[in-house]
Amino acid sequence: MELPEFDQKSFRSALGRFATGVAIITARGVDGRPVGVTANSFNSVSLDPPLVLWSLARTSSSLKAYEGAEEFAVHILGINQEHLSNRFATKGIDKFEGMDVGHAGVPLLDSCAARFRCRKVQRHDVGDHVLYIGEVIDFETCDGAPLLYVQGRYGEARRREAAGLSYDLEAARLGKDAILNLFSHAYVRILARVRAELDLLGLQQSASIILAAVAEGITEIDAVQQFSFDRDYHFSAEEQEMLIGQGLIGIEKGNVRLSPKGERAYRDLLAAMKRVEEDLVGGFTDGELSDVRHFLASVGNSDGDL
Ligand SMILES: Cc1cc2nc3c(=O)[nH]c(=O)nc-3n(C[C@H](O)[C@H](O)[C@H](O)COP(=O)(O)O)c2cc1C
Repeated sequence: MELPEFDQKSFRSALGRFATGVAIITARGVDGRPVGVTANSFNSVSLDPPLVLWSLARTSSSLKAYEGAEEFAVHILGINQEHLSNRFATKGIDKFEGMDVGHAGVPLLDSCAARFRCRKVQRHDVGDHVLYIGEVIDFETCDGAPLLYVQGRYGEARRREAAGLSYDLEAARLGKDAILNLFSHAYVRILARVRAELDLLGLQQSASIILAAVAEGITEIDAVQQFSFDRDYHFSAEEQEMLIGQGLIGIEKGNVRLSPKGERAYRDLLAAMKRVEEDLVGGFTDGELSDVRHFLASVGNSDGDL
């Protein structure tokens, strides 16, 4: 049979894209010595009967012990057990040093995310590995998240369904540094400050726009309406009545004029906006402000679509 020639490194790297948990699989050799290896080849096979599998490299120094053992135990590691994973993946050390796993029966490790005690029911020589299938005779689970292994690195799971979304929200959302986010936050804060100043003057935002229009020489009602419309406000009949009632404007022959009270209100308004502007730019260098002005002006004045 023609075997495809693989570049081993890229083959491993492609396999490593399959995310797994991390297990330590223990057994006791016929000589009574405990053995254990870190394995991510563990998988479930059948629910009824309850079967699991894993495969062991033929190069493992523990192969003989697993071959002779009738049982093995699968310990699914928790996120804080990376050190155990590394320990049980290291050749030539006493992997059980400092642990009390007794002298008989399958060695059991404490406090892992889940543990399955299995009776070895099948073994198969498969390539450079031996595949073991075990029937689960007992199992237990603990609270706490499991440790993951993907692309040669440890990781931990982040649930997506918690947000009720079927896509990766983190990848989809704009970052905090996005201009759109920065601009929206800044806009909301500046607007709140402007509104606070208007409150102090007893003016509504719509009134301030009308005062501005008239003070700038736009007096015909139609033109004032257009001016406020361009700024997202509607200079309605009620609005006119209200401003007249407040003594800020008068209307004569289709023209709006500011009353002396209206003129004073507009002067106070301009002074207040000056204060807001000073507070806003205070603390920034001329260079920084020049960049911001340039950016905002080019966005605001661009003729075409953004
Ligand atoms: C995350 C991870 C997963 C591993 N999965 C397996 C596996 O499924 N099968 C295997 O034979 N070795 C696997 N290994 C390597 C063995 O753990 C390692 O070769 C073995 O413990 C060496 O010790 P030994 O000669 O005493 O068996 C894995 C190692 C790591 C770090």
